[in-house]
Amino acid sequence: MEKIKHIISEMTLEEKAAMCSGANHWFTKPLDRLGIPSIMMQDGPHGLRKQDLAALKEGKRANVPMICFPTGAALACSWDRELVESMGKLLGQECQAENVDILLGPGVNIKRSPLCGRNFEYYSEDPHLSSELAASYITGIQSQGVGASLKHFVANNQEHNRYTIDEIIDERTLREIYLASFESAVKKAKPWTIMGSFNKVNGTNLSENKYLLTDVLKEEWGFEGLVVSDWGAVDERADGIAAGLDLEMPYTYGSGENKIIEAVKNGTLKEEALNKTVERILGIVFKAVDNRRQGVTIDKLQHHESARKIASECLVLLKNNDNVLPLKKDMKVAIVGEFAEKPRYQGGGSSRILPYKIDSILDEVKLKVGSEDLVKYARGYKVDEDTNHEDLIAEAVNAAQWADVAIVVAGLPDSYETEGTDREHMRMPESHNKLIQSVAAVQKNVVVVLCNGSPVEMPWINDVKGLLEAYLGGQAVGGAISDIIFGDVNPSGKLAETFPQKLSHNPSFLNFPGEGDTVHYREGIFVGYRYYDKKEVEPLFPFGFGLSYTKFEYSSIRVDKKWMSGNDTLKVNVKVKNIGDRAGKEIIQLYVSDMQDAVIRPVKELKGFEKVMLDPMEEKSVTFELDKRAFAFYDIDIKDWRIQGGKYTIMVGSSSKNIHLTEEVNIEPSPTKATQCVTRNSLIGRLLQEPLLVEPLNKVLDIFWKSSTSMQSIKNDAVDMIVPIMKYMPLRQLVYYSEGGVTEEILSELIRELNDILQRSQKEKKNEAIC
Ligand code: BGC
Repeated sequence: MEKIKHIISEMTLEEKAAMCSGANHWFTKPLDRLGIPSIMMQDGPHGLRKQDLAALKEGKRANVPMICFPTGAALACSWDRELVESMGKLLGQECQAENVDILLGPGVNIKRSPLCGRNFEYYSEDPHLSSELAASYITGIQSQGVGASLKHFVANNQEHNRYTIDEIIDERTLREIYLASFESAVKKAKPWTIMGSFNKVNGTNLSENKYLLTDVLKEEWGFEGLVVSDWGAVDERADGIAAGLDLEMPYTYGSGENKIIEAVKNGTLKEEALNKTVERILGIVFKAVDNRRQGVTIDKLQHHESARKIASECLVLLKNNDNVLPLKKDMKVAIVGEFAEKPRYQGGGSSRILPYKIDSILDEVKLKVGSEDLVKYARGYKVDEDTNHEDLIAEAVNAAQWADVAIVVAGLPDSYETEGTDREHMRMPESHNKLIQSVAAVQKNVVVVLCNGSPVEMPWINDVKGLLEAYLGGQAVGGAISDIIFGDVNPSGKLAETFPQKLSHNPSFLNFPGEGDTVHYREGIFVGYRYYDKKEVEPLFPFGFGLSYTKFEYSSIRVDKKWMSGNDTLKVNVKVKNIGDRAGKEIIQLYVSDMQDAVIRPVKELKGFEKVMLDPMEEKSVTFELDKRAFAFYDIDIKDWRIQGGKYTIMVGSSSKNIHLTEEVNIEPSPTKATQCVTRNSLIGRLLQEPLLVEPLNKVLDIFWKSSTSMQSIKNDAVDMIVPIMKYMPLRQLVYYSEGGVTEEILSELIRELNDILQRSQKEKKNEAIC
């Protein structure tokens, strides 16, 4: 730090300003005079997309062939922290081998709509799952001395108008959903860099958004790395420095630095702010250089094999009627759909990796079966064409008639899912739907394998026995699919997002992608299952759902306390047993449900998950630990997380819809705005939730009950009514209804006493943060 401070003291204003933007597309600027090196960033997230710099020198654009791992959408379905971390490690090694200092990933934007063109890069509709997995990914990469770049901060949930869109998001939603997807990854894994997004949030460009970049990210969450802009996201560079945007990427031909110099010279930007920015940039530059490892080489074939193993943990078996899967190796199998030959395994845009090798599903199935005679392939449709080709469908129907089982590989073509645009609908190409329906008309054993980055409508779902969601599973997905369909691997993935029956069921439907340059997040916190649960809309497949070839039994939920207060944590223990005859992995999900009614909350929210491997008849005990934050909502009145005191239900299950065990606990409330400052309009019900206030308040309520004949008679005649009346009555009405018993003086004295008590207790708790 001292060294960096010294360097900065030696730098001219011009040199400092220049340091705040890239040297070119991928490198930071070096400054030989003061021994400042340059570092290299390259794209991720599901592989290293490294531009071939030697080719670039000759004016050619090419990438270095690398390993394309499962995309974020697929990876998240593993719900497996260790697996994600192991993939991060492999990526870190690849970066070291290729002299890359920072890999631009992971992407953790929330899947607000299934239509977002980049959903395939992102993890989930749920911030807890998303943030936990991102933390593992970052930990993995950074363990190899390579920096991660958590992106795109924040609310880059659509591609439509991505450079100019203003996302209007209420503060509670921003905190509970969109920021929360980044928060614990930042706090737990400490990424070296965070990439700001293109969009505006509530009127201000992310690159100039002081509230988000400085107040929340740096000051509240303690982020100490550097904030890099998305490529070309900066509008007003000097404002960005003041707001906390450290490095502008890529090179802007002097435009950014000139604005900074001018702003410092005319006094609109303080030089100390610039110094701070340069300090952050140099901090990461020197850290990256210190962490470089010489002579690292990778075995690409081994990484490819790992990509296959990882993919097989991610695929989600969504339907398996009559145990149509796994297939026996002596069955006659028809494989139809051109994706079988040319699998779709990644999406378009900056994350597009040049794969070092691709496994086709068809070849892998042939390898498993061991005899060409048992497999018939038919193209069925043309990749990237929506039109039906009757001749191709007829060929597929013939193959299906010949076979014992038909595997139809279908999904979304490349043109549907790419950075820069969103999908316009949630349908698959008509040619894919028609193929499935035609094959299902002649073959009763149909298994559909889907290759897509985001949910699709499935008009044929009742006509097929099996459905395997392969997402975009990376270059080795062909092998992973064949491992699962022939039962060499027991499927264990579960959906990290809800599949709605149709697009209009999705909560963002009425407000996506917005009008002109504005989009209102009117569904608020009700994103994904939070909405489908509350509105009782039956999804096609719920969040957290996925089948296995074995069965699991849940039993014996235990909590270590029934009353949780202060900074306690709650331990929840359950037992899970494999009651089938195959080894398999189960993802155990813990949801919390707030049973109070004063604040509008989702029916339940994911707060814990664990993936366990179980042999047949093996039972394991799984423990979750919940802190206060697991019960809190973001209270915009106090600008902090707050707990409503009272009963909460802990739900443990195998999906958001299959809850097997529940237990109730009582949680101590945190102070509300009403109880931080008592006024004549404070509600009696709220005040009674605050244990410290109960006694003095009850003293006055005694006077009230003794003198109020009208309220006494309601209490006697309609006791059910009196509870809500009293709960929602403001203090001032004690005077009116007590018929002279509670005077204005008594009321003022009570308010003073209650405020004194609160002030005293707040002083004691001053340094006790909720989270
Ligand atoms: C994308 C980023 C990417 C960057 C560099 C931008 O268009 O939004 O995700 O890292 O380009 O390629």
